[in-house]
Amino acid sequence: MKMNRRNFVLAASLAPLSACVKTQAISSAVKSSGLAEAYRDKFLVGAAVSTDTLMNSDVADQQLLKSEFNSITAENCQKWEEIHPELDRWNWEASDRFVKFGIENKQHVLGHTLVWHSQIPEHVFRDSDQNLASPGLLKSRMENHINTLVDRYKGKIDTWDVVNEIVSDDGYDKWRESDWYKIMGPEFFYHAFKTAHAADPKAELLYNDYNMHYKSKQVFLKRALSEALDRGVPIHGVGLQAHYMLGEPSIEEIERAIEVYAEMGLSVHITELDVDVLPAAFEYMGAEISTSFEYSDELNPYPNGLPEAVAEELATRYAELFKLFIKHKDSISRVTTWGTTDANSWKNNWPVKGRTNYPLLFDRSGNPKKAYHSVLGLVS
Ligand code: XIL
Repeated sequence: MKMNRRNFVLAASLAPLSACVKTQAISSAVKSSGLAEAYRDKFLVGAAVSTDTLMNSDVADQQLLKSEFNSITAENCQKWEEIHPELDRWNWEASDRFVKFGIENKQHVLGHTLVWHSQIPEHVFRDSDQNLASPGLLKSRMENHINTLVDRYKGKIDTWDVVNEIVSDDGYDKWRESDWYKIMGPEFFYHAFKTAHAADPKAELLYNDYNMHYKSKQVFLKRALSEALDRGVPIHGVGLQAHYMLGEPSIEEIERAIEVYAEMGLSVHITELDVDVLPAAFEYMGAEISTSFEYSDELNPYPNGLPEAVAEELATRYAELFKLFIKHKDSISRVTTWGTTDANSWKNNWPVKGRTNYPLLFDRSGNPKKAYHSVLGLVS
């Protein structure tokens, strides 16, 4: 079989345990240079692309995406509130540009994210009397959304984050009480994957979440994912968002998470990697985007540049993370950073607005940081 982009996805998703198929596929399916080239026989190396980069023709950022990464994820432009803001209105421009960019540059293209409780208009969950929608109404809206989006990019988007974050932040041991769950129960989870699979049977389908290393979350997800797989729900892999800090989680915790999901036969994607170097604004470390904390100078200690010692610490942390990913390369299909440079990282504004953070591999001018060299140094 001749390997092309599409076959790569098939190989990666339908035979996730076969490292040999995966490696061969990556080497001929996508074009690599820079970091991605150095990791070409290990896993794909990706980045999230901001709407600003695409719509305001940020040439420098586009160049960085082309030269260092062989996979791209839409950071915001495909989220429900952006792409489908009213029941009968769609905004295709940014998303179309995103997909075209990936195809022109022979990159593995990710769609993000079809069903989520965040960044979705409230009206999706209401009927014409403003009451909670019935299960049937919500189901038909979900089908319309997924079918329209997945069908438009059939054969172009290789992998979809189908459902995001189904677990409650209260104890991490039960379903999140989202409107999706309140109205449809667990069926919303199953039906999203079935609908996406029917719309593009060759696309790889992921469940994507943060804090996948938490013990209780693993117990819950193992059960929920197994129940879904037993029912024949087409889930091919999991996305570990990997919004990490300098000191936590530990490498051992992350390793266990990779193993737990890989043991289920799922391909593991590291989907939103960044390393926050600023003081924690709160004890709970998640990525629930509605969380926010008030700004204070103590929480923003490096407004004029990252001290050398912290840059070193970040480089060490990134090296440890990538060492771990290399060790588990047979289970890991892709490692994606959430953004390209420190300038466009969401971590400058979350969970506290207006800070200066340094979570990525490229600095604010797009130059490789110590952390970049430490990651590259592991394989060259
Ligand atoms: C973030 C974006 O980076 C921000 O620009 C936006 O304001 C909020 O969402 N988990 C996810 C991502 O799956 O979609 C989120 O992205 C970060 C947390």
